[in-house]
Amino acid sequence: MTYQSRSFNLPELKGLSAEQIKVHLGLYEGYVKHVNLIMDKIAALRAADPEGNAYPINEMRRRLGFEFDGMRLHEYYFEQFEGGHCEPDEGSALFKATIEKYGDKGGLVAHMKEVAGTRGIGWVVVYADPKATDPQGRIHTAFVNDHELGQLAGLPIVAALDLWEHAFMVDYKPAEKNQYVAAFFDNLNWKTVEARFPAAA
Ligand SMILES: [Fe+2]
Repeated sequence: MTYQSRSFNLPELKGLSAEQIKVHLGLYEGYVKHVNLIMDKIAALRAADPEGNAYPINEMRRRLGFEFDGMRLHEYYFEQFEGGHCEPDEGSALFKATIEKYGDKGGLVAHMKEVAGTRGIGWVVVYADPKATDPQGRIHTAFVNDHELGQLAGLPIVAALDLWEHAFMVDYKPAEKNQYVAAFFDNLNWKTVEARFPAAA
């Protein structure tokens, strides 16, 4: 087993029930299990007959990104709630980059909410781009389909908002996604998010 499920020290959350979080953590553990399973199965099939097993090996390799990114994005997601909500630090590099890009301190959240309105299952992922020379390129917000489609290669992840219905359907109806998104921000620990934003970005 290469990966083990992480445990998260979560406080009582506003607008997200303990049952919702329990169900969601169970799904996270499933991704960890399947990352290990794919790696083990590929290794076994290669050891047995790499040519004869080429098709199943190839198909599992295609599947790895879904399971791996599903595992890792959930880790970004849950750790953002550890320690409880706190407001953005106006002295942080992320705050300065937010002002440069959006012109006001609420710009990043407003943009994330806009991207969260994208139809379909997936994630809003906020990235930093330490290689950007234009200050406007220091923060990117993408909609990632499933867990792996549309990720921006190599960019450090700053924030991850799960928009799969499993993330909120214990507490909300599908049409109430906006309420779930509001609850996400009500519980977001900005200190954790800011620490992910590289000082050089
Ligand atoms: Fe999820």
